[in-house]
Amino acid sequence: MITKTPFDRREFIKTAAAVAGVASLPGFAFAQGAKVRIGLMLPYTGTFAQLGVAITNGFKLAIEENGGKLGGRELEYFTVDDESDPGKATDNANKLVTRDKVDVLVGTVHSGVEMGIVKVVRESGTLHINPNAGAGAATGALCAPNIFRTSFTNWQPSYPMGKVLADRGIKKVVTLTWKYGAGEEAIEGFKEGFTKAGGSIVKEMYLPFPSVEFQPLLTEIASIKPDAVFVFFAGGGAAKLIKDWQAAGLKGKIGLYGSGFLTDGILDAVGDAAEGIETTLHYGDGIETPKNKTFRLHYAKTYKLQPDVYAVQGYDAGLLLVAGMKAVKGDMSKKKELYAAMESAKIDSPRGAWTMSKAHNPIQDIYLRKVVGKENKVIGVAHKALADPARGCKMG
Ligand code: BEZ
Repeated sequence: MITKTPFDRREFIKTAAAVAGVASLPGFAFAQGAKVRIGLMLPYTGTFAQLGVAITNGFKLAIEENGGKLGGRELEYFTVDDESDPGKATDNANKLVTRDKVDVLVGTVHSGVEMGIVKVVRESGTLHINPNAGAGAATGALCAPNIFRTSFTNWQPSYPMGKVLADRGIKKVVTLTWKYGAGEEAIEGFKEGFTKAGGSIVKEMYLPFPSVEFQPLLTEIASIKPDAVFVFFAGGGAAKLIKDWQAAGLKGKIGLYGSGFLTDGILDAVGDAAEGIETTLHYGDGIETPKNKTFRLHYAKTYKLQPDVYAVQGYDAGLLLVAGMKAVKGDMSKKKELYAAMESAKIDSPRGAWTMSKAHNPIQDIYLRKVVGKENKVIGVAHKALADPARGCKMG
C-alpha cells in the first residue's frame, strides 16, 4: 500500500524559500565543511609507473607546503592506476568523475590516456589539470576553459633540439620512437625545427608502445651511419634503450639525442651508459635558483628520493590549484573566477617561473642539458620562453 503524506502548501513554500535562501549564500556548496575531492589518475604500474609516483609526490608536497588545505578547505584523494592503457581511459576517468564525484581530475602521463580524460572532462565540465601527458590536442584543437596543463606539449621540448643539432653541422638524422601520439608528435616537433634549420631526416623508425625490442633497429642504425639519432622515450623504455645503445657499441660512435625524458628519472638505473647524452627539456637537476634548491632538499627529505621533471610538473599542478582555490576562497562554484585565477597565475616553479598561455599550457624556457654523473646538468638555454603554437585552439 502506498501512503501519501498530506500536502501542506504553506509549509512547502516556507521550506523551499529557506532552502533557496541558503543555497544562494556564497560558499553554500562547501558550507558543511565538505572536503575538496581530488582525483589522481596516473600510472602506478608498467613502464611509466615511476613517473606516476613522482607526479603524485610532487603534487602532495606542494599542497603540504601550503598548509595542507585548498582555499581553507580540507581535501581528500581518490586514486586510479590508469596502467598507461588508452583502452581503459574513459572508464577510469568516469570512475573518478561519476562514481567518486571528484572536484578536480589530476592526470596523466600517457598521451593516449589523456585523450580519454579530455573527452570525459569536456563532457562533464570537471576541472582537469594535466601534469605530464604532452598530447597537443589537449591544449590545441580540444582546448577548453576547464583544461589546464603544467607540463609541456610533445612539440615543445623537441622543437628546439632541431636548431641545436643543425647549428653543429649535423645534417643527416635518423629518428626512433614508440608508435603512439606522444612519440609521433615529439618527432614532428624535432623535424620541424631541424628541417627549418637545414637538416634532413633520413629514416623514421618506430616500435609499438611499450616494446623495448631495440636490437634489430640498432643494427639497422649502425648500417645507415647517420650523423645523429633523435629519440623520444621515457621511463623504463628509455633506460633500456640507453643500456642497449651502449651494449650495441654505438656509444661514442653515433650521437644519441632526445627530448629530456630520455634521461630524466633513470640515471641511477643505467650506470655510466648515459654519460654525455644531451637532451632538451624544461627542467634540469642543477638549476641554480633558491627555489629549485629548496624544492630538491624538501622533496629528498620527504620521500628519500631525488626529484625529476615529473616531480616538478606534479608540484606545479599543486601550486596551480593552490593559487586558484586561494582566489575563490575554496568556493569552486565560482568557476569563472577560479579559471581566471589559474590562467593568470605566475607559477614559482623549480624549473623557473612560468605563466600560462591562452590555451592553458606553460610558456617556458627549454634548457639544453648534458648527463654528467648522476645529473642532467643545464649547459645552456635552447629556446627562451617557448609557447606551443596551440594549433586549432579556439579559446582566448
Ligand atoms: C606522453 O605520453 O605524453 C609522455 C609520456 C612520458 C613522457 C613524456 C610524454
